[in-house]
Amino acid sequence: MKVLVTGGCGFIGSHVCEFYLKSGAEVIAYDNMTKYELARTGYSTEAARVYNWNFLKGLGVNMMRADIRDLDQLTEAARGCDFIVHTAAQPAMTISVESPDFDFTTNVVGTFNVLSVARKFDIPVVYCSTIHVYGNKINEMLTEEQTRFTRNPVGVDEQHPTMQGMITPLHASKMAAELYVRTFIETYQVRAAGFRLTGLYGPRQFGGEDHGWVANFAIRTVMGWPITIYGTAKQVRDILYATDVVAAFHAFYENPKPGIYNIGGGSRNSISLLECIKALGEIVGREPVVKLGQARAGDLWYFVCEIEKAKRELGWQPKVLPGEGIENLVSWIQENTQLFADKD
Ligand SMILES: NC(=O)c1ccc[n+]([C@@H]2O[C@H](COP(=O)([O-])OP(=O)(O)OC[C@H]3O[C@@H](n4cnc5c(N)ncnc54)[C@H](O)[C@@H]3O)[C@@H](O)[C@H]2O)c1
Repeated sequence: MKVLVTGGCGFIGSHVCEFYLKSGAEVIAYDNMTKYELARTGYSTEAARVYNWNFLKGLGVNMMRADIRDLDQLTEAARGCDFIVHTAAQPAMTISVESPDFDFTTNVVGTFNVLSVARKFDIPVVYCSTIHVYGNKINEMLTEEQTRFTRNPVGVDEQHPTMQGMITPLHASKMAAELYVRTFIETYQVRAAGFRLTGLYGPRQFGGEDHGWVANFAIRTVMGWPITIYGTAKQVRDILYATDVVAAFHAFYENPKPGIYNIGGGSRNSISLLECIKALGEIVGREPVVKLGQARAGDLWYFVCEIEKAKRELGWQPKVLPGEGIENLVSWIQENTQLFADKD
């Protein structure tokens, strides 16, 4: 088996590469190593940038420094592959607002190219969409009672209206790419899926303030830096551990039923920001310092995925509970504090 992983040196991409390599597959990590958002995290940018590259190279992954906007290189990389996992993206809302053209070419043109090569060689492909395509009006659409944290919060399913409320260029580019996924399924019968991913977390995630909040909180707690919460800290989100996301990609490979799927932690893996902070304090053995900031426009303060469709159609469901996943994440950060400490 041969697998092409676009964005292979990113957080999720690196876990996909690791999984398939350890399963005996030939793996290509295709990444242009931009990682612009890293520069905003305040971490040791250069060390963080090359960390996943060196990790994957050490495992024996075939490393290819290339851009998904370059159709010729992408075509060469995809030739002979059995599966494409498309994780490469411009993932940050702030960058999309500042550079909408860059966001558009990366997320829309890049995804269009990936779908085109999947069609050309008849390769099943998964695109990483996001639950942000639902928009943030969900905050107002659910009652106070529904969004209060309970053991069984209300889940949002794939039939829910999308792009409701305030949208940014990132919402538009991720949704446009998802529409192309549907278009390639319906027009060209490409075996494609769009996974609407919820908040993901796990080792090798360099979470910043607008992408990867669990890792951001965990890094700050380990380093003894204050955590800034925008809003009340009572926000509730479902979260999903890295290996569970990889299992969802593989479930699609084994049973490629095309379509759009919510891939999230669901109600079992819902956590309020306060609960996450409390868990981090207990694991690290030090109370995190928390600062409260003004709620940010565009942020979702309540979101829990309904994941019945993925369970039914793909036979997938998450396995790793937040307690275990956060502990693994913290261990990785504690073993690698130099990636965060020596700011350059
Ligand atoms: N992390 C999350 O919580 C989350 C949630 C929802 C959706 N997603 C989506 O999942 C995907 C992966 O997210 P992640 O957290 O692993 O992101 P990441 O930023 O860690 O990884 C993305 C990788 O893509 C690479 N890349 C960017 N532009 C490229 C280009 N033009 N050509 C080739 N490579 C390019 C980057 O260098 C980076 O290594 C993204 O599509 C993101 O929008 C992530």
